[in-house]
Amino acid sequence: MGKKKKKAAAADKHRLYQASVQGVEFELDFLEQVFRDTRARKPSLLREDFCGTALSACEWAKRSRNNRAIGVDLDADVLEWGRRNNLEKLGKAAKRVSLLREDVLQVQTEAVDVCVAFNFSYWVFREREVLARYFRNVHHSLVDDGLFFLDIFGGYEAHRTQKERRKVDNFTYVWHQAKYNPITADMQCYIHFEFPDGSKMRKAFSYHWRLWGAQEIRDLLREVGFERSTVHIQAFDEQTDEPLDEFYPTEVAEDYASWIGYIIAEK
Ligand SMILES: C[S@@+](CC[C@H](N)C(=O)[O-])C[C@H]1O[C@@H](n2cnc3c(N)ncnc32)[C@H](O)[C@@H]1O
Repeated sequence: MGKKKKKAAAADKHRLYQASVQGVEFELDFLEQVFRDTRARKPSLLREDFCGTALSACEWAKRSRNNRAIGVDLDADVLEWGRRNNLEKLGKAAKRVSLLREDVLQVQTEAVDVCVAFNFSYWVFREREVLARYFRNVHHSLVDDGLFFLDIFGGYEAHRTQKERRKVDNFTYVWHQAKYNPITADMQCYIHFEFPDGSKMRKAFSYHWRLWGAQEIRDLLREVGFERSTVHIQAFDEQTDEPLDEFYPTEVAEDYASWIGYIIAEK
């Protein structure tokens, strides 16, 4: 009799990632609401940059027969995983999703209503000039009243090494800020997964990022031609201090230990 396979060895890292990191339904509801409020119409064509498994692109196409999505990622393996596990489950809606294996710095697509770059993926561009090139490409890829959605995190706990654990279903998600250089704001982060049988999947995902600040991102967005940008930050419950599924636009916030938000840039 063989030994029982340890949970970590049997687990699929993309499935664990989707279950622990992504809140796609909420994110797309938020996007639709903000688009309606800002542009008084419904968006239909969405581009998901750094799409990974293309969960947002697939969910977008599923929402309405009028919706279409384009997913862009450099990594052929993650795109293939998304094709098999997310796209093929869509049935007819799958025809309304295209996945492109391309660099977001160079990709050229038809003009889209909305472009999203989520889970801080654009932080992979650590030089201002390179990030500006990316933002220029997005600006060029949007229709005249298009919107660009980015997410961001901050707070003093972002500027230090630390580990954060969160229980998800039958495993634990670990966010590990392993290195932080306060001079360049370069950071090395990992996602690990831990299981009740004691097994671990260490460094399932690895990110070498620059911790960009909200205002420097907004300055750069303006510099490349976006008319306006708004920061929506996550609300906290006043009694329990727990984060709520609610984001509000503001120019002023408290110096929270950690916060997350969205930057919405208007073409
Ligand atoms: C943090 S994951 C984001 C996955 C997904 N967007 C999400 O919201 O969870 C970052 C992804 O960006 C991709 N990536 C990194 N640099 C890229 C580039 N220059 N062009 C396109 N994709 C890139 C990686 O292959 C990886 O799948």
